[in-house]
Amino acid sequence: MVYVRKDWNALTQPERDAYAKGVGAMRDLAASDPTDPRGWLYQANVHGDPDGDPPPAQQRFWAMCQHASWYFLPWHRMYIYFFERIVRKYSGNPDFALPYWNYTDTPGIASTRALPADFRDTGSSLYTPERRPEINAGAAMPESNVLYSGAYENTSFFTYQGGTRFNPLALAFGGFAGEPSHDGYWTGLIENQPHNLVHVAVGGTDGLMSNPDVAARDPIFWLHHSNIDRMWEGWLALGGGRHNPEVTGIVVARFYSTRFYFHDENGNEVVMQGSEILDTVGQLDYAYDKLPPAPPSRQANRRLSVALAPAAGDESSPPSAPEGRELGVAEETGFRLDAVKLVRLALSGDAPRRGLFLDAAEETGEAESRPMLLTLEGVRVEGLPGYTYEVYLNVPDLEHATFDSIHYVGNFGIFTHPGGGAHAGHAGHAGHDASNFAFDVTGVVADLRAQDRWDPESPNVTFVARGVEPVTDTRGRAPILSAAERGPDTEMVDGQRPPHYTVERVRLIGA
Ligand code: C2O
Repeated sequence: MVYVRKDWNALTQPERDAYAKGVGAMRDLAASDPTDPRGWLYQANVHGDPDGDPPPAQQRFWAMCQHASWYFLPWHRMYIYFFERIVRKYSGNPDFALPYWNYTDTPGIASTRALPADFRDTGSSLYTPERRPEINAGAAMPESNVLYSGAYENTSFFTYQGGTRFNPLALAFGGFAGEPSHDGYWTGLIENQPHNLVHVAVGGTDGLMSNPDVAARDPIFWLHHSNIDRMWEGWLALGGGRHNPEVTGIVVARFYSTRFYFHDENGNEVVMQGSEILDTVGQLDYAYDKLPPAPPSRQANRRLSVALAPAAGDESSPPSAPEGRELGVAEETGFRLDAVKLVRLALSGDAPRRGLFLDAAEETGEAESRPMLLTLEGVRVEGLPGYTYEVYLNVPDLEHATFDSIHYVGNFGIFTHPGGGAHAGHAGHAGHDASNFAFDVTGVVADLRAQDRWDPESPNVTFVARGVEPVTDTRGRAPILSAAERGPDTEMVDGQRPPHYTVERVRLIGA
């Protein structure tokens, strides 16, 4: 039989209660036998283990979440699949299918970006106090956090370094073809926005969802990932060359054959690999009731497959910074982000002043198709900042800093372990202490040029942090993060600096 995963908000109350019942039973199981692999905490520890050193019996199972590589989507698909089977067993509903939290399909309706009521009901097993307080009080995540047009416009599942088809960074829907990795480096497009941003928005500064070690202890985690998994199906359904990795060589073979370990609903060990999960109906017996709509294209001119010169080195090493032509670099390095931060880009010496790097293309009449990336490199957080940023190019003032303006580049946020994310030391896990983001700004720059809003003498980047949005808001405009939400910028509080982001380097890179 095919189980149908539905929008939480479209469920009947008995269907919702079945999830709550399953979660409650798993919590009870964890209390009575912490070693039972179907228990709530055991299952959450499969994602991350806050103690960092699983007992030998759990080493293959715990702290295995796959982030910042192309294993992000397949691993989480496997993970929630077995979780769904466990909940089904304990829910009392033999037809149970994991619902999804649909914060994506109805832009402009803030209430769909608020946590569903059952998760905020203090009497429910779906409640936890360990969330951003405003979110538990019913406020909505900022709309820019859940935009997915950037991810959907990209038609590649993955990028990799080496060989003839070098593509930089993680400018692909699913991410970089790297080794299995627990922590961030270059994050894939869907993983960054909306995935990481939803985590941070719900978890805030000290909630469960902000921290991968404990995120899966929040019952909304599973519905969030059901939605991300659905977005993978939606991306495929858009066609236009979008497809899962095809077996074409040694790099891709690893996608199919890397094995991960879980437990099923009877507590038996199971092993799964990429080749077993790509057809949800045929291999895993589930489907979604509906897929996300094709998002409106924000930047019609954007060209998403960027070919840069290959970097030297072993293709299995973590991706280095892009090796394309550096066109400009932020005048500040190692700077701290406040609620609003503007940095100017100094153009590289040989960048033509007139049109920046568009000289050659102008001769051929293809001025708008020269690919260009904006990279944020060495992004670190102290503590869990609990907020995310919108990024803009050449925005003249904050009035124009809205995600539907032509200045908007994308959002980023870090979903990491408190203390900066350094998490090396696990066998099989690469650890990194900083994250990097790359945005394709080809279309943004073309649009700005077309409207005379691109100043080739002094381009600049503006970062804007937003707070939560009242559900009554109809403009889709979360307010700029207040000092109260953010904490003071510079003073020490109880001997500690308030959590914040720092960015090592911002660059414009061209092919
Ligand atoms: Cu492994 Cu949403 O996280």
